[in-house]
Amino acid sequence: MTELRKRTTRTTLLLGLSVVLATSAQLGGCSSDDPAEDKLSVQELMKPETCKTCHSGHYDEWSGSMHAYAAKDPVFRAMNKRGQEETGGKLGDFCVGCHAPLAVAVGATTDGLNLDELPDELLGVGCYFCHNTKAVEDTHNNPLRIAFDQTMRGPIGDPVENSAHHSEYSELLDGNSQTSASTCGSCHDIVVPSPPGAAEVALERTFAEWQDSLFSNDPAQGGLSCASCHMPGRDGIAADAKGVKKRRVHAHSFPAVDVALTDFPNTDTQRELIQQELNDTLRAEVCVAQLVDGAVMEVTLENVSAGHRFPTGASQDRRAWVEVRAFSAGTPIYESGVVDAQTAVSDLVDPDLWQLRDFAFDAADQPVHMFWDIVKLESTTIPGPLTFDRSDPDYFATHVKRRYPRAESSPNQLDTMPDRVTVLVRLRPMGLDVLDDLVQSGHLDSAVKQKVPTFDITSDGTSTVEWTLEASDDPQLGSKRELAGVLARCVTSVPQQK
Ligand code: HEC
Ligand code: HEC
Ligand code: HEC
Ligand code: HEC
Ligand code: HEC
Repeated sequence: MTELRKRTTRTTLLLGLSVVLATSAQLGGCSSDDPAEDKLSVQELMKPETCKTCHSGHYDEWSGSMHAYAAKDPVFRAMNKRGQEETGGKLGDFCVGCHAPLAVAVGATTDGLNLDELPDELLGVGCYFCHNTKAVEDTHNNPLRIAFDQTMRGPIGDPVENSAHHSEYSELLDGNSQTSASTCGSCHDIVVPSPPGAAEVALERTFAEWQDSLFSNDPAQGGLSCASCHMPGRDGIAADAKGVKKRRVHAHSFPAVDVALTDFPNTDTQRELIQQELNDTLRAEVCVAQLVDGAVMEVTLENVSAGHRFPTGASQDRRAWVEVRAFSAGTPIYESGVVDAQTAVSDLVDPDLWQLRDFAFDAADQPVHMFWDIVKLESTTIPGPLTFDRSDPDYFATHVKRRYPRAESSPNQLDTMPDRVTVLVRLRPMGLDVLDDLVQSGHLDSAVKQKVPTFDITSDGTSTVEWTLEASDDPQLGSKRELAGVLARCVTSVPQQK
């Protein structure tokens, strides 16, 4: 009975939607200088397919992006559904407000439980939502205000006229302006009022981290916006239309960490782009010190190109960890972080395991996975760059190190000197432990879990960082420095240049 009533409400909402859209289109027309009839209706402009006619390249890249996937993602759906159940609906439109912002803006959903019934154009972060943004009213939880008019705002100051929409320059959508970081940043920063009534938790902090980093400086002092890094430019045409000239156009595939786990466009391309991004992100160095009665190793990781911490954002769900293996005459003598594709890294019994992530806890200090249970975070992510000045102690904030075996471990040194050591940073977009949690509660199909990839970083795409005596003598890759009271030999990875 309740089910039935709910369904009726949803249908009414959907029918109501076309009315809302029609009204906004008229409003848009009235407030604009040119007659509205000249251009497509707001309802038409909300559909990414409409843009495809003239912006086929932008459309193609965006359609494989996580922005397009944000509300289709089965993990998102499962977590939102469970959240609604466990909070008795208090979650409201919190999650969909970022994952399907247009659906919330037009009133087509209030909780994200009816996404299957909504037209495709209302799902995910679409062209219209970004390009119709007229104001950013806060720093987190998606405070973007869209105009609901027929004007597409973007980075072009002298746009050629077209029949579909009006165009307007906006610094909110110009990667050369630092203001544009507030557009991206305010969705990439999540503050959870959790559990209801308790203190707020700054759960995902990409924007705040960027603001702390040197990239938020003036562009003349090395500042770079989110788009500068995440939307690389190339010369081309911005529209397949008459009268356009060559200009800088910007990639819309937004590759980073996350991949589609169900059928979706461009999945292979997206994975290749992610691997390329990751190859540039970290520098790793491994040093081995030969002691009288054995050896110790030390791994240093440096965040070389992320404009915030690494990993950032959903770092309570991501799993990044360090795999270290040491060999003597081909025989393994030490390993940490070695895990097969279907085992959760958190299931390893490994006192030396080094993870780079946020660890989330509830009020009783128990580890938890779900947003609404989280009260406290502890972070082991690598900071972003704070200064270009090598004499400033903050310069080395981007360098984090760990001794292997750990000093607290027993034994705390290797009893044999290795002749080969390999180091790899591995990354899973979603922790298998988090997915197991959703499978066990009956919200996620276990087949989805099997599709989660593991990316290898600090490799040039073909090899791990490999320490040998010969490599430590290599003028480009090798060096020597003090470790455990002796002169250790070191080998570093060289990230590919962009
Ligand atoms: C009939 C063709 C056509 C359609 C359909 C179309 N556009 Fe455009 N758009 C253009 C042209 C032409 C330009 C100007 C390009 C230039 O000057 O290089 C443009 C410019 C833009 C700009 C840049 C505005 C600025 O001043 O920076 C954005 C953003 C944009 N379009 C978004 C969209 C979106 C989103 C859609 C779908 C809702 C869309 N366009 C549909 C032809 C079209
Ligand atoms: C309306 C909110 C919103 C805005 C505005 C927004 N994003 Fe996103 N973004 C998201 C959501 C939600 C996801 C995650 C989708 C998923 O993984 O299911 C995402 C994903 C991404 C990813 C991929 C992350 C990963 O781990 O793979 C990148 C990169 C990204 N956004 C960059 C940007 C940049 C750059 C801008 C500004 C030009 C921007 N975003 C603006 C909501 C937004
Ligand atoms: C997450 C927000 C976001 C989404 C979604 C998005 N764009 Fe953009 N778009 C931008 C930003 C930011 C720029 C400017 C980048 C820069 O200046 O570095 C841009 C630039 C453009 C431009 C100007 C030419 C260029 O490449 O700089 C066009 C045209 C455009 N986008 C069309 C689209 C279309 C069509 C879609 C959907 C298929 C879309 N955009 C989806 C944020 C977005
Ligand atoms: C200096 C370049 C740079 C700047 C500036 C920058 N990023 Fe990144 N970003 C990176 C790199 C490098 C990575 C890591 C590579 C990867 O994940 O594939 C990354 C990763 C990400 C991810 C994936 C996060 C994860 O670990 O799950 C998101 C989302 C993201 N950035 C959003 C943003 C937003 C939003 C801004 C602006 C507030 C921004 N970035 C500014 C370079 C940059
Ligand atoms: C302020 C905007 C915002 C809110 C609110 C928000 N998200 Fe997200 N979500 C994002 C962004 C941005 C990313 C990508 C983060 C990154 O890669 O660092 C993301 C990523 C995710 C991912 C990882 C994608 C994947 O499947 O691997 C899941 C799952 C997710 N969100 C679920 C939720 C749920 C459930 C809620 C509500 C409890 C929620 N989100 C609330 C912006 C938001």
